[in-house]
Parts: sequence; C-alpha cells; structure tokens
Amino acid sequence: MFLGCSPFHCASKYTFNDSPPSSRLLDKSIPIRTNAPMDLHATYPALSDLRARAQKRIPKFVWEYLDSATGTEATKHRNRNGLDRIGLMPSVLHGEFTPDLTTTFCGADLPLPFGIAPIGMSGLIWPDAEGHLARAAAHANIPYSLSTVAAQSPEDLAPHLGAHAWFQMYPPHDTDIRTDMLNRARAAGFKTLILTVDVPVTSRRERQTRSGLTSPPKLTPRLLAQVAQRPAWAMGMARRGMPHMRMLDKYSDARTANLPPTAHIGYLLRTSPDWDYVKWLRDAWDGPFLIKGILRPEDAQQLEKAGVDAIWVSNHAGRQFDAAPAAIDALPAVRAATALPIIFDSGVESGLDILRALSLGANFVMLGRAFHMALAALGPRGIDHLIDLLAKDLFANLGQLGARDLTSLPPAFDLHAPLSLPNGSKLPARRERF
Ligand code: FNR
Repeated sequence: MFLGCSPFHCASKYTFNDSPPSSRLLDKSIPIRTNAPMDLHATYPALSDLRARAQKRIPKFVWEYLDSATGTEATKHRNRNGLDRIGLMPSVLHGEFTPDLTTTFCGADLPLPFGIAPIGMSGLIWPDAEGHLARAAAHANIPYSLSTVAAQSPEDLAPHLGAHAWFQMYPPHDTDIRTDMLNRARAAGFKTLILTVDVPVTSRRERQTRSGLTSPPKLTPRLLAQVAQRPAWAMGMARRGMPHMRMLDKYSDARTANLPPTAHIGYLLRTSPDWDYVKWLRDAWDGPFLIKGILRPEDAQQLEKAGVDAIWVSNHAGRQFDAAPAAIDALPAVRAATALPIIFDSGVESGLDILRALSLGANFVMLGRAFHMALAALGPRGIDHLIDLLAKDLFANLGQLGARDLTSLPPAFDLHAPLSLPNGSKLPARRERF
C-alpha cells in the first residue's frame, strides 16, 4: 500500500505537522520544518480556499493589483487551461514507498521543487510581506526572490534571509546605480541574480486602472473607502506606514529630483535590456545568473551561449502581453532547445501543476500570487500552510503516478488530443466472459 499521503501516514523527506508522531514512517524523515497547524487543512484544503479568504481581507485596489493581468486576461486564462490540459498516466502496483521530494538546482540541494517568485510591492499586498516571506522561505529552506521594486530593501531583509536568497533585477538605466544595486544585493546575502526581461515597456492592466490604483499609489477618498472595509490590512499598514520601493530611495537624488514622482521609476529602471546588457551582468555577477521571462527557444539557445546559468520560462502570469502562449505550452520547445536548467512559473496552483511542469522539462517551479494570497488570507502561518499544501499534493500525485522521486515522472500528454487507437487499428470486438 502506498502510504505517502494517507492522513495517517504522511512522511518522507518532508515532515507534515499533522503526521502522527507514532507513524512508523516518521523515522525516515529529514527535517523540513513547517509551522502549519493541522486544522488549517480542514478549513483551507486548497489554494482556492486561501484565495477566497485573501480577497475578503485586502482592499479592492490591492486585490486588483495582485490578481489582474493585461488586456482581456486571455493569457492568464490560457495559463490555467494549458496546465489543466497536461495529462499524466497513473501507474499502479508499485507496492509501498515514500516519494522523495528533494531536488537540486544550480548546485543547491533543495528539499522541495518550488520557491517564491519576485513580486513588486509585496508590502502593499500585506504588511511586511517581504519579511514574512523571506523568513518562511528560510525556515523551509526554499528559495525566496526579492524584487528590485519590493517595499523592502536588500538591507532590510538581510537578517531574515536563508540559504537560498535570490535578487531580481529590473535593469537600471545608470551603470553606477546598476553596480551599486548588485553590490547591495551581494552584501545583504543574495547569491543568485535574476534579470527579468519580459517588461520591455510598461504593460497596461485595465482592471488595476479601473480600481483607482495609480503608480505610486495615491490614497484618494475612493481608495480610503476600500481600506476602511479591511481593518486587519489597514491596521497593519498604519503600524508600518505606507509602503514604497525602498531599494530605490538611495537613488532619489539630483538625477531624479526634477522629475515628477511618476517618472521616477521609469527613469531609474531602463526596462528594455538587450544582449549587451546580459553580457555586462554576466561579467559583473559571479553567482548563479538567471534570465526570467523567456518563451522562445531561440532566446534560450542564445542565452546559453551568453553564459547564463538558467532560463526562467514565464509569461509574468499573463500580466504583460495578452497574445502570449500559455507559459506551459512554451515550455517543451524551450526544454528541447537548451541543456540549461529551467525554472517555470505562471499559473501554478498545486502540487499537481508543479509535476506537470517538471514532466515537461522544468527543473524547478516558482509561485508568485499563490504565496501572497496565502499570506493575505492567514498571515504568516498562511505561507507555511501553502508550503505544506503543495508538499501534500506532490505526495498524493506522485503516489498515483507510482513515482518514487521527481526524476521518475511519466511523459506528459495532451488530455484534449483526439482519441487514438494503437497502430491506428480498430478496436477488437467486445468479448463477453459469460
Ligand atoms: C509580478 N511578477 C514580477 N516579476 C518580476 O520579475 N519582478 C517583479 O517585480 C514582479 N512583480 C509582480 C507583481 C505582481 C503583483 C505579480 C502578480 C507578479 C511576476 C512574478 O514574478 C511571476 O512571474 C508570476 O507571478 C508567476 O505567476 P503566478 O505564480 O503568480 O501565477
């Protein structure tokens, strides 16, 4: 009998809090710590439950910032539909085993195949989001990515970082600022650099605009009315002060003093890097260097030649371009084009989605909105709970696949493909036993 995910026998390299201490499999566990208490699994058994609660706990304009995509949001929906279309054939009669969720990525041993993607202004979504996420990631020993445009700076987060701290760079225009940002990230303890390349221009987010959100956020009477309906969020913000892009404070000097506040970020961050820029950063950063926002196989090939360490397949959760393919649909061709490790994101909501991406060639998976919804729903314990949920779902589905580890996944197939018979043959006549 497969014991990995029965409510009574949950153990492996990953330890669930609700595993009974008496489970005979517990002695096989190695420590991946989580603080998620047991009853949360009864009330919030899936991300959809956390999502629903998060929406009730943050003001509308904040929800629209977190959840919206660009245009008609067709790309965002394609991400979900694309993942749902990926089939994996169950496999039976494998006897008793406990799946191994560990993996390696860019030379690091990791207990789980997923981490936290960079989200700008996380601190607007929930007070001290960056701190909560960094601490939870350090505790669980999974990667945490800090955005250039987060509400906390690398220095703010330095005391909270774990072994897998990744710094995401939006490319600054000015070489001195660029160098300084890299030095600050390195000094704070970030070992991996991400360059995001799928924001060559500012994208339009119509839902965000409709909600009254501006950049930088301005608390108009309309927004204040939304805030008044969300007391937990409002009190947290009142304690910490209105968030802003802390990393950029240092550069708000004479160069930007005469610009209107809305031009500030656009001036500092040259949002359209080119191949020379990639080369410059490759030479300047001596740790793992990842390029985020790749959908074309030829870009992956050229990046491999440019000496980057990994390709990040993503369509930015559908926030940039509404005619982009589902990120999961772009993954196989990128996989075929490069031998580099691949990270996947955009639309991942469960352990099963993670397995889908891995089965199509990803080496690692990141989630952005999901972690912020979990935090907004339940506070810091929501992050632990989501890590626990994803691990549980990985166990359950690996058990169905008869896969003992993440390298033993069966090939994926298209659940919507027309039915095909072996060798194109006709079905034999149905034989009755009696
Ligand atoms: C993002 N994303 C993002 N990416 C990045 O490189 N730098 C950033 O500052 C941001 N900011 C940001 C804000 C918000 C509100 C969202 C939703 C997303 C993209 C993010 O890193 C990631 O690619 C997607 O969020 C992944 O999709 P899921 O997991 O959110 O579906």
